[in-house]
Amino acid sequence: MEKIVNLCKRRGLVFPTSDIYGGLGSTWDYGPAGVELKRNIKEAWWRDIVQSRNDVIGLDSAILQHPRTWEASGHLQNFTDPLVDCKGCKQRFRADQVNGRRCPECGGELTEARQFNLMFRTFIGPVEDTASTIYLRPETAQGIFSNFANVIDTQRVKLPFGVAQTGKSFRNEITPGNFIFRTREFEQMEMEFFVRPNTDEELKWFEYWVQARFQWYVKYGINPAHLRLRPHAQDELSHYSRGTTDIEYLYPFGWGELEGIARRGSFDLDQHAKFSGKDLSYFDEESKSRVRPWVIEPAAGVDRAMLAFLLDAYDEDVVEGEERIVLRLDPRLAPIKVAVFPLLRKGGQPEKADKVREMLQRHFTVAYDQAGSIGRRYRRMDEIGTPFAVTIDHQTMQDDTVTLRDRDSTEQVRIPIAGLVNTLIERIGWHC
Ligand code: GAP
Repeated sequence: MEKIVNLCKRRGLVFPTSDIYGGLGSTWDYGPAGVELKRNIKEAWWRDIVQSRNDVIGLDSAILQHPRTWEASGHLQNFTDPLVDCKGCKQRFRADQVNGRRCPECGGELTEARQFNLMFRTFIGPVEDTASTIYLRPETAQGIFSNFANVIDTQRVKLPFGVAQTGKSFRNEITPGNFIFRTREFEQMEMEFFVRPNTDEELKWFEYWVQARFQWYVKYGINPAHLRLRPHAQDELSHYSRGTTDIEYLYPFGWGELEGIARRGSFDLDQHAKFSGKDLSYFDEESKSRVRPWVIEPAAGVDRAMLAFLLDAYDEDVVEGEERIVLRLDPRLAPIKVAVFPLLRKGGQPEKADKVREMLQRHFTVAYDQAGSIGRRYRRMDEIGTPFAVTIDHQTMQDDTVTLRDRDSTEQVRIPIAGLVNTLIERIGWHC
């Protein structure tokens, strides 16, 4: 993990938040390369979950929701972790993460456990009182449930169908840590898949989404040996769940949750119908009756996915006798798709390289670098996983061809500038 954290800082993937003030515990900012990687992960998810399917549509609901939302969803009452305080050093711990009654830091006596609500509280408007108390959402899911009636009233949807969204969520975690694995502000990619309310349909789609989501990580480069499915035991289920299976990744600190797929039944629609007094049922043409659908929810974290993709892509090898660090990221996820280098800073090469860069920028994220030895420039790009590098050299000036270098094999082929865009689209596998 240490190596990844250092690489992330050195190459502008992830910086500690408020670095100049000494940081803000377990909070991270995404740098120029990190923001591109994150965007690509969300883009890959959106393409596969929304764009390429006929049964899922998108949504983008607000982070601030009506406070009744969290009463109805059960988060006000149930979204808690057991907390203990050390009477000596005053540090706080999750009760389920300490052994015995002694502080793991100073050995002091610990208090009895009490429930601590993980939602961040704030006020809406200028008056700070109970009536104006609202919460930062702890999951994006509730914005989907509270828009259920809007969606079925305005869209031609037929069961089964899904509503997907990505966005920030906030949890006042007692023990955040392990880099971007557990933070208090993070981004989710969630989809609520509504099915006919019977166990056959529910289990069929649950199995489908567990497999589909497992394969999604494999599709974008994660070694399946580093992934496993773990069904939740009855006593660890969230308050809304009838059954959950986690997709876990083998992080350097052990197996940990990457994504959870939950059977939420009609819990949320039932609760919102009760609390809002609105009819949240759906007219099912097939059975000619009004039903309240059940829900299968694949809920992923962007930051955790990014950590897993980075860890799995990290490699060290030797090229021409020199050690290098290389991120073997899937080209679709790579922050920068192609680097453009003039071999020399003279002979018209920089001007030509600039033209090539302009051409490529219409299609891809491009880096341009003309400083230092060509080997050093390749290494910098290898370290952020740039899959291709184009070099403009003496021969380019004569016949309009360039060399195209492959990050993984380091092999170079010479191709005409006119064919570059198509070659790259083909090799990246995406129209950007
Ligand atoms: N709507 C269901 C839900 O929120 P969850 O298992 O609590 O379920 C879903 O969260 C995903 O969100 C997790 O699998 C994880 O990837 C991500 N996640 C949850 N808490 C997180 C945190 N504190 N930091 C980073 N990611 C987190």
